[in-house]
Amino acid sequence: LQALAAFPIGAAVTNNDGPSFNIVTNTSEQAVVEKHFGEMTAGNIMKMSYLQPSNGNFTFTNADTFVDYAKDNNINVHGHALVWHSDYQVPNFMKNWSGSAADFIAEVEDHVTQVVTHFKAKGNVVSWDVVNEAINDGSPVANFRTTDSTFYVKSGNSSIYIEKAFQAARAADPSAILYYNDYNIDQNNAKTTKMIEMLTDFQTRSIPIDGVGFQMHVFMDYPSIASISAAMKKVVDKGLKVKITELDVAVNNPYSGGWPGNKITSFTNTVALAQKKRYCEIVKAYMDTVPAAQRGGISVWGTTDANTWLTTATAAYNGEAIAWPLLFDNNYNDKPALRGFADGL
Ligand code: XIL
Repeated sequence: LQALAAFPIGAAVTNNDGPSFNIVTNTSEQAVVEKHFGEMTAGNIMKMSYLQPSNGNFTFTNADTFVDYAKDNNINVHGHALVWHSDYQVPNFMKNWSGSAADFIAEVEDHVTQVVTHFKAKGNVVSWDVVNEAINDGSPVANFRTTDSTFYVKSGNSSIYIEKAFQAARAADPSAILYYNDYNIDQNNAKTTKMIEMLTDFQTRSIPIDGVGFQMHVFMDYPSIASISAAMKKVVDKGLKVKITELDVAVNNPYSGGWPGNKITSFTNTVALAQKKRYCEIVKAYMDTVPAAQRGGISVWGTTDANTWLTTATAAYNGEAIAWPLLFDNNYNDKPALRGFADGL
């Protein structure tokens, strides 16, 4: 896959945070990654609570092994994620912060500085999701997350931690590409509008930011290609990069009862071909909408259907266990989706 593109084609993989899909020890996982991908994202181990479990105690061992494996195989790493409110990814000392807002913001800056500085020295960590999911899904008007974000609350009920994180990341590694990353911004909706407002504000005030990561945990039927393209175009028009950071295409949509209307209970050829078409259309929309100079790349969130996060996650997916969302089957064989992705490039 990577050979077909002039921009990074990546996959999220794990090291010591998943049962048997460890990139450092699983040779089947390695074979797929080394053959098809030029970039890796850590599924979990570069998140805050993994890297700084208690105040000032940085634990880089698993992440170092992960990044070193990539380096040994000429693979770059997209760092994920410096700041994310999601409950168990936030270190307890931050959740339980009882000091001042100014000191809390300094802790956020310190985390970003230490982590980015550490990985800059490796040489192959080329980009970062600096802040992940800071905007809520409000409709008709979306806003920054408030009470559900430790960062907002402990910063003195303020979104200032976002720009402070970007400034610290830029200062620590001026050559790293810095992204704001979120889900549901591919729908050209209130959340997209709020994000664009933030980007405009950052640009006006010279807050450093290079691009937007569109997570794109999408379905067969949703969102439409038209809305994906329209949302990406808004970022393109700001002169920023667009990166698809976490692509997967679940064949069942728990919000609409399945696809097409009925829950899929086996991955038939018909379903596989429809998924192939969907992957192709998404990649093609990216190619058509984002000019070459603004393409940050496309990453899938996992290699095989056996290691998708959708089997174990989450309340939002109603325990959906049959998503078959990725490019390879449980035995590491290509699915038609892989060809669909390639055809879109
Ligand atoms: C997921 C991981 O894949 C899971 O293993 C973990 O339990 C929860 O986080 N958006 C993101 C990713 O930005 O960090 C999430 O990763 C998936 C949704």
